[in-house]
Amino acid sequence: MQRNSDVIVIGAGAAGMMCAIGAAQRGRTVIVLDHAKSPGEKIRISGGGRCNFTNINTGPKSFLSANPHFCKSALARFTPSDLIAMVDRHRIAWHEKTLGQLFCDDSAKDIIRMLLDEMQAAGAALHLRTEIGDVEKSGEGFRISTSEGAYECRSLVMATGGKSIPKMGATGFAYRVAEQFGLPMVETRPGLVPLTLDQATLESLSELSGISAPAEIRHGKTAFREALLFTHRGLSGPAILQISSYWREGDDIAVDIEPDVDLLEHLKAAKKANGRQSAQTALAEILPKRLAQYLTEREGIAGHMADLSDKVLLRLVDAVQNWRIKPSGSEGYRTAEVTLGGVDTAALDSRTMAAKGVPGLYFIGECVDVTGWLGGYNFQWAWASGFVAGESL
Ligand code: FDA
Repeated sequence: MQRNSDVIVIGAGAAGMMCAIGAAQRGRTVIVLDHAKSPGEKIRISGGGRCNFTNINTGPKSFLSANPHFCKSALARFTPSDLIAMVDRHRIAWHEKTLGQLFCDDSAKDIIRMLLDEMQAAGAALHLRTEIGDVEKSGEGFRISTSEGAYECRSLVMATGGKSIPKMGATGFAYRVAEQFGLPMVETRPGLVPLTLDQATLESLSELSGISAPAEIRHGKTAFREALLFTHRGLSGPAILQISSYWREGDDIAVDIEPDVDLLEHLKAAKKANGRQSAQTALAEILPKRLAQYLTEREGIAGHMADLSDKVLLRLVDAVQNWRIKPSGSEGYRTAEVTLGGVDTAALDSRTMAAKGVPGLYFIGECVDVTGWLGGYNFQWAWASGFVAGESL
């Protein structure tokens, strides 16, 4: 078995495979190593099995990083249109679901097959079930000890992703290699993750478990409008996953349920039309019934609408549209879709993803301190960073 090559990529995920394709197409000998038994496991489970493979609205504003400018170069050089062209070439049917999010019509496995076919056509080799040991500098390149023997290469690309979902083989190995070579790190934390509530709050909200409602969730100046889901552990749904990447322990978030409705007008109109109905009934016309019941009871608002002053109605509006909740934590890496932080972009060249000061070493994909919003942005970062590295190897 060939164990010497121009390029070794550690990690057969979205970023690693895209990088391998580019480098091999340019005539480099490329070997991709992975400890898993199948490539692209996160692609397989992504988007509920249909892989939200990109977002047509991709732009730097949808990414979090200590240096928000770092991602610009790669994102400009490999765009959603470039990925769509590849998907179309492989005759994979897709559709836009919402908010620019593109999904496979059929299965995420189509995307994995596309990457494997491209790798094979370009001549990149894939060695699975390979446990990685030490990585050392050797002469002009690197030596990698593995369960299958030692490998040598001129350029080494770290594409092992983040720490999210350790059950699926996430190890944070790239961070260790970065530290070994003296590269700075931005502290890592779970992102796109459900938020948990303390026991007392959880008990008070237990009746709401399973309810989903359109909401705007705010944290400081950041706001997302998508669905909010109450669960038996706390808060979830796309709006919560989005805000979780900005939230920090000790902070509260503002929840605005039905942000598109002028609630005060609705309540005043309901009072005028039928003064004998309760606020709970009027609220239940636009909110899930259990939510309307919970909020009116919590505010102690009972009796006929005709007897409620504007001040009381305003209090109810505030309870629905400016509900302050203090999460106690998050579900952590166990369920987080991504890892925030990672290899500090200050140590990398934004045009190539090469580590400054360590010739031949590259970091791509999720292990870098660039994290996208929910909605296909993280795969677009994986494709783009993998592509630019592949172009420079
Ligand atoms: P990725 O984690 O994909 O790949 C890393 C590879 O390295 C894996 O194959 C792993 O086995 C290997 N590896 C790790 N440690 C190793 C070691 N020590 N030795 C050898 N190999 C090692 N994003 C998006 O844009 N749209 C979506 O629909 C979704 N959906 C989604 C659902 C779920 C449940 C999760 C957890 C995540 C998503 N994401 C997503 C996020 C997306 O999956 C993620 O951002 C990319 O997979 C990152 O790609 P990478 O190639 O960087 O890492």
